[in-house]
Amino acid sequence: MVEFIAVIAALVAALIQPSSAGPLLPRSGQLGTLENATFDYVVIGGGTAGLTIAARLAKFASVAVIEAGGYYEVDYGNASVVPLLSLTGLDVIDPSTSFPHRPEIDWELVTIPQTNAANRVLHYAQGKTLGGSSAINTMSYIRSTKSAYQRWADLVGDGSYTFSNLLPYFKKSVHLTPPNLAKRNAANATPEYDPDSFGIGSPLEVSWNNWVDPTLTWLAKCLQAVGLTINPKGFSSGELNGGSWLPSTIDPTHATRDSSQTSFLDEAMPGTQIKVYSHSMATKILFDGSKAKGVSVSTNGTLYTLSVNKEVIVSGGVFHSPQILMVSGVGPKAVLQAQNIPVVADLPGVGQNLQDPISINVANFVNTPNAQSIVANLATEPEALRQYREEAAGPYSSAAGYISYERLPTELRATLSNATQAALAAYPSDWPELQYIVGTFLSSNGSSMGAISATITTTFSRGSVTIASASITDAPVINLGWFSNSADGEVLIAGVKRVRQAWSSEPAQSIRLGPEFIPGVDVDTDAKILDFLKNNVNMIWHASSTCAMGKIGDKMAVVDSKAKVFGVQGLRVVDISIFPFSPPGHPQASVFMIAEKIADDIENGR
Ligand SMILES: Cc1cc2nc3c(=O)[nH]c(=O)nc-3n(C[C@H](O)[C@H](O)[C@H](O)COP(=O)(O)OP(=O)(O)OC[C@H]3O[C@@H](n4cnc5c(N)ncnc54)[C@H](O)[C@@H]3O)c2cc1C
Ligand SMILES: *[C@@H]1O[C@H](CO)[C@@H](O)[C@H](O)[C@H]1NC(C)=O
Ligand SMILES: *[C@@H]1O[C@H](CO)[C@@H](O)[C@H](O)[C@H]1NC(C)=O
Ligand SMILES: *[C@@H]1O[C@H](CO)[C@@H](O)[C@H](O)[C@H]1NC(C)=O
Ligand SMILES: *[C@@H]1O[C@H](CO)[C@@H](O)[C@H](O)[C@H]1NC(C)=O
Ligand SMILES: *[C@@H]1O[C@H](CO)[C@@H](O)[C@H](O)[C@H]1NC(C)=O
Repeated sequence: MVEFIAVIAALVAALIQPSSAGPLLPRSGQLGTLENATFDYVVIGGGTAGLTIAARLAKFASVAVIEAGGYYEVDYGNASVVPLLSLTGLDVIDPSTSFPHRPEIDWELVTIPQTNAANRVLHYAQGKTLGGSSAINTMSYIRSTKSAYQRWADLVGDGSYTFSNLLPYFKKSVHLTPPNLAKRNAANATPEYDPDSFGIGSPLEVSWNNWVDPTLTWLAKCLQAVGLTINPKGFSSGELNGGSWLPSTIDPTHATRDSSQTSFLDEAMPGTQIKVYSHSMATKILFDGSKAKGVSVSTNGTLYTLSVNKEVIVSGGVFHSPQILMVSGVGPKAVLQAQNIPVVADLPGVGQNLQDPISINVANFVNTPNAQSIVANLATEPEALRQYREEAAGPYSSAAGYISYERLPTELRATLSNATQAALAAYPSDWPELQYIVGTFLSSNGSSMGAISATITTTFSRGSVTIASASITDAPVINLGWFSNSADGEVLIAGVKRVRQAWSSEPAQSIRLGPEFIPGVDVDTDAKILDFLKNNVNMIWHASSTCAMGKIGDKMAVVDSKAKVFGVQGLRVVDISIFPFSPPGHPQASVFMIAEKIADDIENGR
C-alpha cells in the first residue's frame, strides 16, 4: 500500500536478525521427488490462496503444491521479514521499468504501454515464492463492506457470499492479538475495533504494530479534521467508513511478517502429508476429454506429471491463473486457435475484466520524525535495533498504520460529470468511493516527508491478460486498462482535492514545511491534475477479477460460485482472479477467506 520507492533514499542500517527461528524448511519426505505421482488434489501456485487451501485440504486428503519459487526468507532475507522493510526495503516492488531484477522472488512482469496513461510501461510486482504475494505485500488486513459482499452474492447467485455467511471463514483463517498499548505508547493512536469480527481462528497472525510512527498520528489528525472520524468498529466488521488504526499480518511476538507460508504451510508440514514441489513450474493442465486429470511440471528441466484422483486447483494469481488456463486450452477460442492450442473449453471471459485501482500521493515536507528518519540516523538507530531484537518493538517492528475511507462529500461530488455521478450512484450506499492512506518517508536529501494518498475504490476501467505464446515460460501480456474509463480520473481528481483539504487543516499547519511538494502548487486546475495523474498514478497491487466468478449462463463468467471452471470437470480456480469485481478495502483478507470457503465446499462435497 504505502509505497514511495521512487523517492526514498536507500536505507542504511545494521544487520537485523529477527528473533524468530526462520522458515520451517520441508522435511525431505515432504519435498516432492521429480517423477510421476498421483494425489487427490494438485494445487498450482503456493501463494496466498494456494497454500491456504492446500493446508486445509491436506487435513483429509493427499495434496501436492507446485510453486515456481522457494523460501523468501532465504531468497530475499530481512527485506521480506522485518515489518518496516515492507515499506522501505522491498526494492523489487518498484513500478518503474528500471526495477531491480530479482527472479528468485518476483515474476518481473511488465505491462504493455498504457495508452490512456501517457503510454507508461509499468512493472507489476508479484511474489514468486512460497507465500506468493503475501510474502511481499504491505500486510494491511482489511475486509470489504457488507454491501460489497451482498453484491458478490447477487452477481453469482449464491447467498453464501453475504458478509454474515462469510464471517465464519474470515474468522477461521486468522488469529487476532489485541493491541499492545504499552509498546505502542501512543494515546492518540489507540486502535478501535469490534472483537466480534474475530474468533478462535488460526494460523495466520493479525496484530497491530508494536510501535506508532509520530508523523502518522499527525496525518491521521489531518484526515480527522476534515470529517473522517475514527470508525469505532475498525475495518473488519463489514464497514469501511471514516478512519482506523489497522492491523497487519504480523506475528506480534517476533514482529515478523506472517505469510501463507509461515502460517498455513508451516502448520501443515509437520501435521499432514502435504508435498511441496518448489522451484517448479506447472506448465500445463492435462485433460482427459474435458476432465482435468493432472498437471505437467518442469523442475530444473526435468519433466513429469502429477496426476489427480480428484481435482486440479489453480492458484496462480491474477496474471498467471488466466495464463495457465489459456495455455491448457481453456479460454477465448480465437486466442487459443491463434496459438494452435487445442480448445478444451471456449470461455471468452478468461483474462478479461481486470480491475486495478489507481493511487496518487500528495506529499509535503514535515517537521516531525518518522520511522525512516530514526533508523537512518546513526545516533538513534542502535536503540531502534535493540528495541526490535530484544522487545519486538520500535520503528523496525512497524508497517503501515492508518487508513480512511469515505464517500465523496457533496461539494466534491458536484464537480463530477453527470455520467460519473450516475455511475457511482449505481453502487450501494455503504460502498466507499475513496481511500486515503497516510505514509511517511525520507526524501532523497534526507528530509522527512509526510504523504496522504488517494486511491479509487471503484474501478470503472477494465484491463485484460492474454498470452503471447502457447508456452507458460513466456510472460503473460498485461493491459491494466488505466484511465480507459474517464470516471476513474474524475474521481481521483476529487480525491486529490480532498487530500489537499486535509493538508490545509489546522493540525497540518503544525507540521507542514514549505509549499506542497507533490504534485506541487503549480498543478492547480483539473486539466493539470489529470495530466499529473496520467503520468504519476501508481498501482497498489490490488489487481483482480481476471477469471471472474459468475452465474451459470453468464457468458463472461469463468468459474461458478464454488470456484469450478465452467465447461470442464475436476478443475477450480481459487485466488484473487475469481473475485467478480474489485471490492473496496484490501484484498488479502478476502483471498484467505475464499481459500477457506472453497476448502470447506470441497470437504463437504460441494
Ligand atoms: C507490493 C504489494 C503490496 C500489497 N499490499 C497489500 C496489503 O497491504 N494488504 C492486502 O490486503 N493486499 C495487499 N496486496 C495484495 C495481495 O497481497 C494479493 O492480492 C494477494 O496476495 C493475491 O493472492 P493470490 O493467491 O491471488 O496470488 P499470489 O499470492 O500472488 O500467489 C500466486 C502464486 O502462484 C505461483 N505461480 C504462478 N504461476 C505458476 C506456475 N505456472 N507454476 C508454479 N507456480 C506458479 C506464484 O509464484 C505465486 O506463489 C499487495 C500486493 C503486492 C504485490
Ligand atoms: C538486512 O540484512 C542485510 C544482509 O544480511 C544487511 O546488509 C542489511 O543491513 C539488513 N537490513 C536491515 C534493515 O537490517
Ligand atoms: C509420466 O507420465 C506421462 C504422462 O502421463 C507419461 O507420458 C510418462 O510415460 C510417464 N513417465 C513414467 C516414467 O512413467
Ligand atoms: C535445481 O538446480 C539447482 C542448481 O543445480 C539446485 O541448486 C536446486 O536445488 C535444484 N532445484 C530443485 C528443486 O531440484
Ligand atoms: C447534469 O444534471 C443536471 C441536473 O440533473 C442538469 O441540470 C445539467 O444540465 C446536467 N449537465 C449536463 C452537462 O448534462
Ligand atoms: C530537501 O529538499 C527540500 C525541497 O527542495 C527542501 O525544502 C529541504 O530544506 C531540503 N532539506 C535539506 C536537509 O536540504
